[in-house]
Amino acid sequence: MNFMNRTNPIGFFDSGIGGLTVVKSVIELLPNENIVYFGDTARVPYGNKSNETVIEYSLQAANFLLRKNIKLLVVACNTASSVALKELRRFLTIPVIGMIEPGSKMALQETKNGNIGVIGTISTINNKAYSNQIKKLNPKVKVFEKACPLFVPLAEEGWINHKATELIAREYLKELKEKKIDTLVLACTHYPILSDVIQKVIGKNVKLVHSGEPAAKIIEEYLNGRGLRNTSNQLGKREFYVSDVPNKFNEIAERFLGTKIKHLYKVELDELTND
Ligand code: DGL
Repeated sequence: MNFMNRTNPIGFFDSGIGGLTVVKSVIELLPNENIVYFGDTARVPYGNKSNETVIEYSLQAANFLLRKNIKLLVVACNTASSVALKELRRFLTIPVIGMIEPGSKMALQETKNGNIGVIGTISTINNKAYSNQIKKLNPKVKVFEKACPLFVPLAEEGWINHKATELIAREYLKELKEKKIDTLVLACTHYPILSDVIQKVIGKNVKLVHSGEPAAKIIEEYLNGRGLRNTSNQLGKREFYVSDVPNKFNEIAERFLGTKIKHLYKVELDELTND
């Protein structure tokens, strides 16, 4: 095992750019940490792929990041967290933080009436990742889940205040509105981009939760606990690797990250698959 140093980067991966919303929360809390991000933009979406494929891609992403000497791996994708966390923890010697546990804990902290809604990709919802985790922590609450696959391309297209997005949101969220939920988990790292329209449709009394913030707190606790917090007083270096640079990538990615991407590199798929 490599000796871990405070200055080693934190590694993040996602199927594409959604995980940048998680990086955003981490940068806000831990601005001095060095960061390496991998977005599998050539093979996005993961949300409608088989579990076997998502596990394979996740292990490839993790191996790529391990070669960058990361001190901690953050699976900044709910789909990959839902299906590949166990495998990643089995193969990696560094700690792996997923999205499901932080988001579930936060939902339980927020709910008052015990009715929690969860929206995510087809894979996250079909695997019941959140309902299993939430019920494990508190069997008394009720969890209502709904897949909203069209939200991913709408977020990427930047249709944040678009009528079509609102119409689709009304259709998707209809069932959850009837369940009298008071908390809604945005269980896909793309969805925080659409939080205004989701909030408008589901109603202002429903608390929206996403995993970025609680995950950032868990990362902070972990680093402090192990003496691995980067104590430099300079802003961390942030490197972004993607398997494809699609049209308008910078514009879209900046919307997710909230800041400019300076160091962007393309990774060939061969580099991921030939190990
Ligand atoms: N970012 C992914 C997630 O959080 C959604 C996009 C995809 O389907 O790959 O689940």
